[in-house]
Amino acid sequence: MRLLFLGDVVGKAGRTAVTEKLPGLVADLKLDCVVINGENSAHGFGITEAIYQELLDAGADCVTLGNHSWDQREALVFIDRAPRLVRPVNYPAGTPGRGAALVEAKNGAQVLVVNVMGRVFMDAMDDPFAAVEREVEAAPLGRVADAIVVDIHAEATSEKQVMGHLLDGRVSLVIGTHTHVPTADHHVLAGGTAYQSDVGMCGDYDSVIGMDKAEPLRRMREKTPGGKFEPAGGQATLTGLIVEIGANGLATAVTPLRVGGVLEQTGLGRA
Ligand SMILES: [Fe+2]
Ligand SMILES: [Fe+2]
Repeated sequence: MRLLFLGDVVGKAGRTAVTEKLPGLVADLKLDCVVINGENSAHGFGITEAIYQELLDAGADCVTLGNHSWDQREALVFIDRAPRLVRPVNYPAGTPGRGAALVEAKNGAQVLVVNVMGRVFMDAMDDPFAAVEREVEAAPLGRVADAIVVDIHAEATSEKQVMGHLLDGRVSLVIGTHTHVPTADHHVLAGGTAYQSDVGMCGDYDSVIGMDKAEPLRRMREKTPGGKFEPAGGQATLTGLIVEIGANGLATAVTPLRVGGVLEQTGLGRA
């Protein structure tokens, strides 16, 4: 099967790129499953029920979140009726929603999607490694799940690499989100798990991590509170990773995808 993971969708620019381009990508690239990180899809902060539905309508099979999960308070409520929306698994017990979901892909495959937050330079969370281990053990690859995707939403590449090596050979893909900048270390690990430290964002890269440049430039230099962060409104680059997954659920190849906007384009030759 062929799976596409798209990085954090940032604001209207990111959403427009997803709704305009994803349906064509699903057809042209013969995608069996699409997972999208949606934590910044509502004006840069969180997600609404309408936007969640918009991402599904565009072709997403599952939407993951991160440290911005609850920026739109309605997410605390609608997540319980949104079976394809997954928030970090290592929130405290009692947090609304789910940290893992077994979703049916376009080809009928059962895909386990787990979202987890790192702890290095991030909020204090429960142990991310133990939390993911529990989910993978509950739905093992090849027995319950046909493919397993782990979205590690974290700042530090070292923490993401540890998660990759810990799960190597037991999941299809360990992919980093949160930094909004794609890394060039996409490859298949020794045990057959596809890996990339960060997939980047679906947003306007003529920006500071998706936000209009003016306020970050002012705030970092002047060190005073003031203006608001607003999502940059130029044409977005859709940034993702295409993963080829074999019958055993392990990865055989990866191809980075960058379409539209200011980033160097790549990945469309993969049909
Ligand atoms: Fe993000
Ligand atoms: Fe984040």
